[in-house]
Amino acid sequence: MYSAEFQASLKAVEAAREANIAYEPARMTAKEKEDLLAAYHPDYKKSEFATLQIGPNKGEEVPHELCDLLQAHSRISAEDVDLSDVKYDVDVLIIGGGGAGASAAIEADNAGAKTMIVTKLRIGDANTMMAEGGIQAADKENDSPAIHFLDAFGGGHFAAKRELLAKLVCDAPEAIQWLNNLGVEFDKAPDGTMITTHGGGTSRKRMHAAKDYSGAEIMRTLRDEVLNRGIPVVDFTAAVELILDENGKAAGAVLMNMETKELMVARAKTVVIATGGAGRMHYQGFPTSNHYGATVDGLVLGYRVGAKLLYADTLQYHPTGAAFPQQIFGALVTEKVRSLGAKLINRDGKVFMHPLETRDVAAASIIRECSDRDEGVDTGSGKAVWLDTPMIEKIGGEGTIERRIPAMMRMFMRYGIDIRKEPILVYPTLHYQNGGLDINVDGMTTNVENLFVAGEAVGGIHGRNRLMGNSLLDIIVFGRNAGVNAAAKARETTVGALTLGHIAKFDAEREAAGIETDAVSPKLLPDYRGSRTGI
Ligand code: FUM
Repeated sequence: MYSAEFQASLKAVEAAREANIAYEPARMTAKEKEDLLAAYHPDYKKSEFATLQIGPNKGEEVPHELCDLLQAHSRISAEDVDLSDVKYDVDVLIIGGGGAGASAAIEADNAGAKTMIVTKLRIGDANTMMAEGGIQAADKENDSPAIHFLDAFGGGHFAAKRELLAKLVCDAPEAIQWLNNLGVEFDKAPDGTMITTHGGGTSRKRMHAAKDYSGAEIMRTLRDEVLNRGIPVVDFTAAVELILDENGKAAGAVLMNMETKELMVARAKTVVIATGGAGRMHYQGFPTSNHYGATVDGLVLGYRVGAKLLYADTLQYHPTGAAFPQQIFGALVTEKVRSLGAKLINRDGKVFMHPLETRDVAAASIIRECSDRDEGVDTGSGKAVWLDTPMIEKIGGEGTIERRIPAMMRMFMRYGIDIRKEPILVYPTLHYQNGGLDINVDGMTTNVENLFVAGEAVGGIHGRNRLMGNSLLDIIVFGRNAGVNAAAKARETTVGALTLGHIAKFDAEREAAGIETDAVSPKLLPDYRGSRTGI
């Protein structure tokens, strides 16, 4: 399939394959990693960040695109909405229809709360659905939550909120059982035990998967459970502003029908933000592995009512986004490809790093290979490195790719690339928002009462970098946690008079800071008029 320009490099990769399979590249030292990240990781590119001038994180740096949205005007003014005209009145309002929102809804419903999901697209149109490689849990004999904690804490640069990470790893085995009982078809050996693999930065094999469509399988199951329970889901309806009550507690949201633009009031005793990530912001011009709705809405909604952000300056660029062909530019090539033995190879056929370094290190290493070292392969629309997938068949035996990563095989086969026989070209793609709203271990924001957050909109669970498989895990653990606690809090809550007073307050702050902007937020959908990444 590869045209003539690729042939010399391809031959070098093929010629070195046997030797490269045998070669065990060294892990980088802590100092080497630090230097590499500082020089090549996008999070360290100062010129791409701006300082927030208003709001609870005033004085902190965030990507300039995010800064613009956080300081932007509301889509509405208080006068646009009659707060006495309540269309939906519930105990727990969940904003977002991905894995975290669905998990929260199931547990809130279990607890007897009147629960509703509202989502700007459809339930399941979410990053959960796009997740491939798997979900971590220390449930094998040679493993423990403590070891899982150490892997994730180190991988996140020792910045995770310890109590959140401890909850994540301790609740993980039970989360897998919960999913299994709901009907998730995990990969199992003939004796029924779960098959587990390594991910980058894991010291034990604890990645549970459903081939390489783990997220789709999990989301399918959660969506079925929500619908079978009859939990109301309001599709194609976005939350455009949170509503507080007279006591400053979260008390609902202003909803907007995405088609008619009609505004509606949802009153709630507690609110769960589960709006997901930010890939469609295309920070620094990167392509993304994220779904169409990943436009950082939850952070904007929370920030405007005073909720604090944590680590909003750190993003995850997945090392292996598809770089060729153009039709799948930025699509996720799961880390599981490397777990199964494929190595990263430069233009000259050399292995240039250990394939299972943590993601930030791996991404920075690929960027270095393609920039200063000039060892990247020219794809016609940028540089990339090879991921030598045929190694998998040689290591695991014929049929391994079809059995373990069929989605990858299909994705490339569509463009005439048989990954069992030919390597693929990859480059980092914007994948995950490490930072988000700051929560306590009960899932409630640290400074807005009755406002809960779950999933990718949370900051602090993973620190400043996340390991593979800990995101599918966090949407389950913290989704369920938010559902349980939001329902409990709803039981003791009486909602006071509703207000949108925070909009005028935020406007006044913006004006006092001398910020002039026409921007409105939340963004809701990306705008691709004019360019591939919307930049
Ligand atoms: O590489 C992957 O399959 C991605 C997994 C994750 O982000 O956890």
